[in-house]
Amino acid sequence: MALVDGGAVPLRVPEGAAGPAVLVKNLYLSCDPYMRGRMRDFHGSYIPPFKPGSVIEGLGVARVVDSTHPGFVAGDIVSGMTGWEEYSLIDKPEQLNKIQQSDIPLSYHLGLLGMPGFTAYVGFYEICSPKKGEFVFVSAASGAVGQIVGQLAKLHGCYVVGSAGTNEKVELLKDKFGFDAAFNYKEEPDLTAALKRYFPEGIDIYFENVGGPMLDAVLLNMRMHGRIAVCGMVSQHGMTDPAGIHNLFCLVPKRISMKGFIQSDYINLFPQFLDYMTKHYKDGKIAYLEDMSIGLENAPAAFVGLFSGGALCFGCINCLSSYFDHGISSSDVQCLKDLKQSLIDPNILENDLEIKSRWNFTDIGDNGGICGFTGVECWHPNENRVLSLRLGNLGLEGPFPRGLELCASMTTLDLSGNNFSGPLSEHISEQMPYVSFLDLSNNSFSVRKRNCELPAINLSRLISFNVAENSLFGPIPDSLQSFPAANFMGNPGLCGAPLDKKCKKRFRVWIHVRLVRIREMFVRIQKPLHRINDASIIGTSAGFILGFVVAFYFPHKLFCGRLQPYTFRVCG
Ligand SMILES: NC(=O)c1ccc[n+]([C@@H]2O[C@H](COP(=O)([O-])OP(=O)(O)OC[C@H]3O[C@@H](n4cnc5c(N)ncnc54)[C@H](OP(=O)(O)O)[C@@H]3O)[C@@H](O)[C@H]2O)c1
Repeated sequence: MALVDGGAVPLRVPEGAAGPAVLVKNLYLSCDPYMRGRMRDFHGSYIPPFKPGSVIEGLGVARVVDSTHPGFVAGDIVSGMTGWEEYSLIDKPEQLNKIQQSDIPLSYHLGLLGMPGFTAYVGFYEICSPKKGEFVFVSAASGAVGQIVGQLAKLHGCYVVGSAGTNEKVELLKDKFGFDAAFNYKEEPDLTAALKRYFPEGIDIYFENVGGPMLDAVLLNMRMHGRIAVCGMVSQHGMTDPAGIHNLFCLVPKRISMKGFIQSDYINLFPQFLDYMTKHYKDGKIAYLEDMSIGLENAPAAFVGLFSGGALCFGCINCLSSYFDHGISSSDVQCLKDLKQSLIDPNILENDLEIKSRWNFTDIGDNGGICGFTGVECWHPNENRVLSLRLGNLGLEGPFPRGLELCASMTTLDLSGNNFSGPLSEHISEQMPYVSFLDLSNNSFSVRKRNCELPAINLSRLISFNVAENSLFGPIPDSLQSFPAANFMGNPGLCGAPLDKKCKKRFRVWIHVRLVRIREMFVRIQKPLHRINDASIIGTSAGFILGFVVAFYFPHKLFCGRLQPYTFRVCG
């Protein structure tokens, strides 16, 4: 896979196109395991291989930019087969679905309300024929399909166990998706024994996503008249010589039915699926998680992550990224309200009313009212869900803004070129875990007096980070050392890579050691002092210690971040 710059494209359906077509701007692209099968020169599958050198085809959510098809107009939001590119010309618009719901995140139309959700729905209800109280096992259970199968089975009154490849996913299955139990198959030396442990009475329904040794182990644990829905075998996708299955004979004595299926064969059920899923999602009975990557340039890594288990859940690509969950819109509104409250906007005084007055929350409604606010960019203009906050060079003043953790889908925060001051939040990593662009440069941010250090910032998706020209101190954390030195310049107290300046031995340690030594000395001379009982000598010693602390330790605690040349020496 390679990313190529296709140059400028006219944003119109070309004249003389063979038939009606639509030009779309891709918003979200789906990263699915079946695409691996299209990367082989194999023509016997239900879907043809990709053509080398052409744009990768995949499911996506897109906005119509231009249309010569009577069923679509510019601005329509659609889902369907598109390309891994910024804009796509779709010459079979009939296959596109128009998205009507505005209160469910658009990206869910690639997962919960899209192909994976539909696969789970038809696979579970049509192929597994479930009955209340049955024992259900789901492999690749945290994946886009698996997480929904497990929840449908729970809604149906079944006992459900899932397997996944990390302990984090295992916890997610139990805590978020309500599986009765889950295990990490990578930590189980004997899969047959593990399944026996979780299903002492055997398995009625196996929703097969992985194939290989797991299928063999399941066959040995199936009950009489069990059903196996073969949805996929992700462990076998890249193999030229797929693993053989040894226990197939179990199908005979146990009268097990094992059936493969392709979701698109059941497309007539799509409208009823959509109603069912939307209702259960809105009622809070079905949860959904997805794992997004930022930008087309990260598409290959996102794709590889599907097979290495890197993605937490379902993989999806967007120009930017986020995690979504219930009630996100209202929390984003609150995020902006809190932020606004914590601002001191001097422009008010100059009658150049910016944020304080233009961010008016009185009539915003639920459908994207905040998206027109100065500096706010939303994921979709009809959804109150903040994608970026670009508040650079607005003359804003105040502490590090409050409430940012409520902008849970935010991926860009630019506060550069303002007059923010006070310590940086110590919880940036928890407050905005999905931020990939963070620009705090050219302000007066400092560090907490308590520890005089830049807080640990560990944001796994961070692509760009800039704190140049502030009043920061201390060693640059390891997690930030890969960013250019220029992005840390202008902070006289910062040290360590990527800056040339080495961090000196910490003064605090030194003073502590000195104080301990003085205390030891004091204890050693205490005996003779006791004998002599000379209060004046004790007073002199105590005075010496006190004087020492006042002279060196207090300035360090008190002025760190204010008296730069001095505290530079003390904290460095
Ligand atoms: N029949 C149909 O119509 C249809 C439609 C859609 C999807 N499918 C199939 O359904 C399956 C699941 O799709 P999905 O979209 O839910 O997948 P997904 O969200 O992309 O999840 C894939 C997960 O599979 C697991 N995995 C990867 N390699 C593995 C291996 N070698 N052994 C065991 N597990 C492995 C990984 O999770 P862990 O870290 O937990 O291992 C990975 O996160 C795939 O096989 C796909 O091809 C079929």
